[in-house]
Amino acid sequence: MRMVGSKGVAVIPSAELVPRSRDVDYSFRQDSDFLYLTGFEEPDALAVLLPDQAGGQYILFCRERDAEKEIWNGRRAGLSGARKDYFADKAYAIRKLDEILPKLLSGRERIFYPMGRDASFDRKIIRWVNQSRGSSRTTSHIQQELLSLDYLLHDMRLYKSRNEVSLMRQAAKVSIAAHKRAMRACKPGMHEYEVEAELLYEFKKAGCAAAYPCIVGGGKNSCILHYTENKQVLGDGDMLLIDAGAEYQGYASDITRTFPVNGIFSKAQREAYELVLEAQAAAIKKAIPGNHWNDPHNEAVKVLTKGLVSLGLLQGRPAKLIREGEYRRFFMHRTGHWLGLDVHDVGDYRIGDEWRLLEPGMMLTVEPGLYITKAKDVAKCFWDTGIRIEDDVLVTNEGNKVLTDALTRGPDEIEALMASSVH
Ligand code: GLY
Ligand code: MN
Ligand code: MN
Repeated sequence: MRMVGSKGVAVIPSAELVPRSRDVDYSFRQDSDFLYLTGFEEPDALAVLLPDQAGGQYILFCRERDAEKEIWNGRRAGLSGARKDYFADKAYAIRKLDEILPKLLSGRERIFYPMGRDASFDRKIIRWVNQSRGSSRTTSHIQQELLSLDYLLHDMRLYKSRNEVSLMRQAAKVSIAAHKRAMRACKPGMHEYEVEAELLYEFKKAGCAAAYPCIVGGGKNSCILHYTENKQVLGDGDMLLIDAGAEYQGYASDITRTFPVNGIFSKAQREAYELVLEAQAAAIKKAIPGNHWNDPHNEAVKVLTKGLVSLGLLQGRPAKLIREGEYRRFFMHRTGHWLGLDVHDVGDYRIGDEWRLLEPGMMLTVEPGLYITKAKDVAKCFWDTGIRIEDDVLVTNEGNKVLTDALTRGPDEIEALMASSVH
């Protein structure tokens, strides 16, 4: 409210239910901005922040209680719940939005809202603002500006509070258990979806959802960055890449581990794996306060390119191969992203022309990889080897803390874990 200012107002809509098939909706996920500000988990809601000298008001529009509808579709907080359990100063029925909201906007010079995210909401805002001005004969017009709320809100979301960090620790803990279970369950001849089931079992058991569709790709599929079909049979001798993270109370974790389907790394698999592991360790060391956003990526690229030359996969001087981007044939994505309520979380990576400096409270992933597909100039022992190692890193005053550190990364430790069967 302080950032919006006493002549401003902020309007934040909830997510909406989306139909999946006749009479069935997709499972509901609250809009991250709305969840961040309100903690309110129902659809058909809208929050209004009305700053003023006295500390301002938080107004929540939501569905009213309805005995009949609640029998069919579940409980609602209702207007009294909005006040009592969600600490709204005032609550109104969402069906009265068109009538009440224009009055709340009246006289406000700056109207912040999530601009450009949903065309129909953009149109509604303009309509409400027009209505708020009244008829031209009775009103003296003030200058009104429509502003994007993202600029203010997403910078707040980038710095995690102590409470947010503890929710993210819990998401990480559940994801670690899921990856361990998957490693122990994996056997040649299983389908990728059977391994996915082991992950989802641990998520659900802990009251979590998947923060994004699980990526479970064996052999060739390990080289498809966002592979989610998960329906092939896992071959003896193939690598399996699992990128999966639990979401706990809206907060994501995002972990990737890669391991041999049969539980034993071949010589080539181990060499490629150890290179990615070395790149990740070097990148994590760079994710500390005072370094900029791109330092971990630059470090990962350096280690990987040098290693690709040693493995015979690239020829030439590493510095030149980096300058000319040759490494991108095998490492074509960036080394990480912000992590929070969204798996690819909000927050700017640059300020003007400069990379953003890392500061305590920021949460990011560090996830270098190598994706080696079949090619004439590549030794056969490396074909269809996709490797990514991804962990979740909190920048701290002292340096950083890897929230997902308890999940095995070393090749020997992975082999030992896979030797202890889960079933
Ligand atoms: N799971 C998506 C990513 O790692 O960015
Ligand atoms: Mn990621
Ligand atoms: Mn991931």
